[in-house]
Amino acid sequence: MKFHWVIAAAVAVAVAPPVSAQQPIVIKFSHVVAVNTPKGKGAEYFKKLAEERTGGKVKVEVYPNSQLFKDGEEMEALQLGSVQMLAPSVSKFGPLGAREFEIFDLPYVFDNFDELHKVTDGPVGKALFKKLESKGITGLAYWDNGFKDMSANKALRKPEDMKGLKMRIQSSKVLESEMRAYGALPQVMAFSEVYQAMQTGVVDGSENPPSNFYTQKMHEVQKYLTLTDHGVIEYAVIVNKKFWDGLPADIRTALEGAMKDATKYANDISKKENDDALAAVKASGKTEIIKLTPEEKAAWKKAVIPVHKENEARVGKDTLETVYKETGFKS
Ligand code: LMR
Repeated sequence: MKFHWVIAAAVAVAVAPPVSAQQPIVIKFSHVVAVNTPKGKGAEYFKKLAEERTGGKVKVEVYPNSQLFKDGEEMEALQLGSVQMLAPSVSKFGPLGAREFEIFDLPYVFDNFDELHKVTDGPVGKALFKKLESKGITGLAYWDNGFKDMSANKALRKPEDMKGLKMRIQSSKVLESEMRAYGALPQVMAFSEVYQAMQTGVVDGSENPPSNFYTQKMHEVQKYLTLTDHGVIEYAVIVNKKFWDGLPADIRTALEGAMKDATKYANDISKKENDDALAAVKASGKTEIIKLTPEEKAAWKKAVIPVHKENEARVGKDTLETVYKETGFKS
């Protein structure tokens, strides 16, 4: 009997594939936007670098456009390990119980990407990632999309023009108060459902950077886009902690390097991607672009600034003060 076990073990060793022929480690990277966006391109670039630098020991499968999971479903899928990597907008961490991330949703905090990077690259960015650990999630990097504009089927020139409009938002309480401050009716909805909701009149409008607006073809179903630049869409690239911690150390180091370089790439292209998308919206002739004078913009800011105070406890008073200091924010 014992002899048979020895034979069986010897056969098993003999048929075990050599290390190089072993199955690669698969990283499923799911996201909700089009390939042709800062995040979509960043994900493809990470895949390329990760596969090259691990000599094929890692295979990254990128699933764009909510193919695998819609927002609202993807966080749970990550925690369960059905997907290993995501890059949700930080406005989507509230339902997970990490509401401090909504600090990025406060309107008119950031005037430019430099101010935004002071926060993401500084202590606040790190502290926010720390909060994810107890949820089985590791934060790897922050990726930029860009500054949000307001769209609707009605020309929005003054904040009062928003009154009574049904506006789609992400699942963020801060965004909810932002829309209410404008007198609009916020409607939380998955990103993949926005186009149809606009087409059928379920919502009147939304907020998004031009790259999302154009690649989701919202210009086909929205008559006006007002360049309010009232907030940002920022992403957190996150992984399932157990999966990440369980990787062989040399593989993890190679992937960290790939992520560092993909982050630089994604953040370097984000402004141009949004500028190009805005030009494409304009060229389509389907959506009228409304530029605001500095005075008009000041009115949009004034109407919504009370949202900061209203959400101070939610995002954390100390954190908010740090962000104000880092960005040089003045109301
Ligand atoms: C949205 O839902 O509007 C955005 O978060 C989509 C994205 O990932 O950019």
